[in-house]
Amino acid sequence: MNDVSEKVARRQPFEVLLDQEQIARRIRELGQQITNDYAGQTPVLIGILKGCVVFLSDLMRSIQLPVELEFVSASSYRNGIVAEDTVVIGGGVSISLKGRQVLLVDGIIDSCRTISMVHERIQKEEPAGIEIVTLLDKPASHRRQVKIKYKGFSVGNDFVIGFGLDNTQRYRNLPFIGRMID
Ligand code: IMP
Ligand code: MG
Repeated sequence: MNDVSEKVARRQPFEVLLDQEQIARRIRELGQQITNDYAGQTPVLIGILKGCVVFLSDLMRSIQLPVELEFVSASSYRNGIVAEDTVVIGGGVSISLKGRQVLLVDGIIDSCRTISMVHERIQKEEPAGIEIVTLLDKPASHRRQVKIKYKGFSVGNDFVIGFGLDNTQRYRNLPFIGRMID
C-alpha cells in the first residue's frame, strides 16, 4: 500500500483490498491479452456505466489496437415486492454492431443480472462476437451462468468500493479497491 492509500484508508470505514500497483499490473496484462486475441481487428468496447469508467479508461490505454468506444448505463435497485433486484438498462449505442467484435466492460459482476441483460440486448444487434471484461468478479454470488473471458480479480462476497465502484454514489474516485468494514 502506498502512503496516500494508507492515509485515506486509516480514517475511513474500509480497508484496502487491492492496491494501485496490483490493479495497474493486472490491467496491463488484460490489455496485452486483448491485444493478442484481437490482432488485426477493431473491437468495440462497450462500457457499462457508471462502475466501468476508471477501469475502462486504464484498460483502453493498455490495448495496442484501434478500438471504438460506446457506453450503456445500467442501474439496479431492490424491488420491495419481488426478491430479485430490478435492472434498468439505459442509453444507446450509436454505431451499428452488426458483424463487429464487441467487448462488454464492467467494473464488477455480482449476481450476473446486469451483464446478462446487457449481453441479451447487444446480441440482438448481431455482432460477430461478444465477450465480457470485468475488473472484479464475485463468483460465489452468481445467479446466472455467464462466461467471463477477461477478469481482473475474483473477490469474496464483501462489499467493495473505489476504482469506479460506489457505495451510495460515494468512493468512486478512490484509486484503489477497498473492502467496506461494517
Ligand atoms: P449484478 O448483481 O451482477 O447485476 O451487479 C449489479 C451491480 O451492483 C454492479 O454493476 C455494481 O454496480 C453493483 N455492485 C455489486 N456488488 C458491488 C460491490 O461490492 N461494490 C459496489 N458495487 C457493487
Ligand atoms: Mg452502485
